[in-house]
Amino acid sequence: MSFAIGHVLKIITAIHDMQSLAESLRKQGRTIGFVPTMGYLHEGHLSLMRRARHECDAVVTSVFVNPTQFGPGEDFDRYPRDEEGDRSKCQSAGVDILFMPPVSEIYPGKPTAFVIVDGISDILEGAIRPGHFRGVATVVAKLFHIVKPHTAYFGQKDYQQCAVIKR
Ligand code: PAF
Repeated sequence: MSFAIGHVLKIITAIHDMQSLAESLRKQGRTIGFVPTMGYLHEGHLSLMRRARHECDAVVTSVFVNPTQFGPGEDFDRYPRDEEGDRSKCQSAGVDILFMPPVSEIYPGKPTAFVIVDGISDILEGAIRPGHFRGVATVVAKLFHIVKPHTAYFGQKDYQQCAVIKR
């Protein structure tokens, strides 16, 4: 059974609102499937959303371009964004809740506390992008505390990222 009748997409931008909704879904015994993204959604993301739709009662997607996973030479500001397109894609994939926080909500000050997954974060892509997987692990941990999912869905194209998150 899906959470929203007719899949009316609910947009949430504040941590507190997302946490309250997640807690209330859990209290009602509903499972939460979560697809974290940085937006500019494509078919790979949509397939994860459809899978979550099939397996869980409520589907949450986040769109958050995470500054801490960009290195000094990588352009956070120029990362592609398409808020309008992302909303309509989420709507048609049957997503119930789109969590789109501003950067100031996730990082209210200069980030000083991080999640570091030693070893696996430092090889392959991690060797040429120092700090990248630290940023990924940190934001995913934050998002898990906010969305409180039963199941989270990640694309296998980013194999090392999946391994870091599983660890
Ligand atoms: O794969 C991505 O889009 C990002 O690395 C993730 C997992 C959403 C964290 O920002």
